[in-house]
Amino acid sequence: MKVKAGLVGFGTIGTGVVRLLGEQDELLSKRSGVEVALERIVDIDLERGRGVNTGHALLSSRFEDIVDDPSIDIVIELVGGTTVAREVVARALRAGKHVVTANKALLYEYGEELFQLAIDRQRELRYEASVAGGIPIVRVITESLAGDRICTIYGIVNGTTNFILTRMIQEQWSFEAALKRAQELGFAEADPTLDIDGSDARSKLAILASLAFRCRIDRSRIAKEGIQRIDLTDVLYAKELGYVVKLLATAKERDGEVSLRVNPTLVPEQCALANVSNEFNAVMLQSKFLGDSLYVGRGAGANPTATAVVADVVDLAIRLVGKQAFNANAYAPIHDYATRSYLDTRSRFYLRLATEERAGLLAVITKILGDHGISISAIIQKEATGDQPIPIVLLTRQALERDLRAAVQAINELSFVHGPTVILHIEDIRL
Ligand code: HSE
Repeated sequence: MKVKAGLVGFGTIGTGVVRLLGEQDELLSKRSGVEVALERIVDIDLERGRGVNTGHALLSSRFEDIVDDPSIDIVIELVGGTTVAREVVARALRAGKHVVTANKALLYEYGEELFQLAIDRQRELRYEASVAGGIPIVRVITESLAGDRICTIYGIVNGTTNFILTRMIQEQWSFEAALKRAQELGFAEADPTLDIDGSDARSKLAILASLAFRCRIDRSRIAKEGIQRIDLTDVLYAKELGYVVKLLATAKERDGEVSLRVNPTLVPEQCALANVSNEFNAVMLQSKFLGDSLYVGRGAGANPTATAVVADVVDLAIRLVGKQAFNANAYAPIHDYATRSYLDTRSRFYLRLATEERAGLLAVITKILGDHGISISAIIQKEATGDQPIPIVLLTRQALERDLRAAVQAINELSFVHGPTVILHIEDIRL
């Protein structure tokens, strides 16, 4: 039995998909009982050599050649971005095709309308590759944990920033050198600021949280901070205190309210997430019945991401051939949870202040924190070197972010405190 697919976007991931389908076709058809035939490939650049065999696929530069071809069953959208990609996905669904995408930015911006379109047309919009690359986390949530109640997600879901942080910490590479290498290795987005400023991780977190908690997410209430202001000083203090700094994506559901944040976070150095290095991604779930579970793998790059794309294509192909029912509703929200503002959530915090030498200074600072109900769990102050401001590092116990921000604002206004205080979150992850 044969199922016909068309690929729109012959870039890094598209090349990986063509390679995988070509090299593994025998295994794939034996395992699934279906032959997936790549009939058409569309890209605006047809000149560049990709070093892969495109088989019998017809190459052209108009995506209409695929979405208007009635013989194509499955459209693979790997264009990236949110303009042409949106049109490709919408038109493919309207034309009655199933769609596989790796496009997290598209699902973040337009997921609601596209999933609704899929439901209206009773077609499936699959997106395993959009979150954590090759890790089959969407499948875990929808199938393996189908009956469980997930309450917390911790993710390292951006390979580029994890690669940069790892190389800066372990090899003392500069930020720029590490970013350049990540780009060369094909991990980074076309515009790497989306990686660096946390936008890419935010899109992935929103997709995962919506799926895991089965609710809509108010995107305006997701807190986001990237790694652009991460200072080696903080990485070294964190280490001294037994923590590692990661760009962590965190989502929690508590009593029918959800909260989501992406930001540089201290995690205990002995926990598994602290040891997820380079471009590797990891997702840790806490759920009511299973408890803690952890999924680790390569989250970026052509081959890992292609693995997830092909898995979705093959699964759809098996259903098409077996005439099994499609369930576009499998991913639809069923709960009406509110998204809580980050200011109303509780966390532990790392603070680094730069101060002048002043008698009684610590008493003033700790009083401000105390007046805001914030309790200190650790403190480091080292002797000054020359005329440099004196760093004071504090770890707090659980506090409301609104109170913490108010206290830090009052501290920043003290005449003997230089510059804004660095604030990082702490998550005491056990696994
Ligand atoms: N730019 C992304 C990353 C690619 O670095 O993780 C995978 O989505």
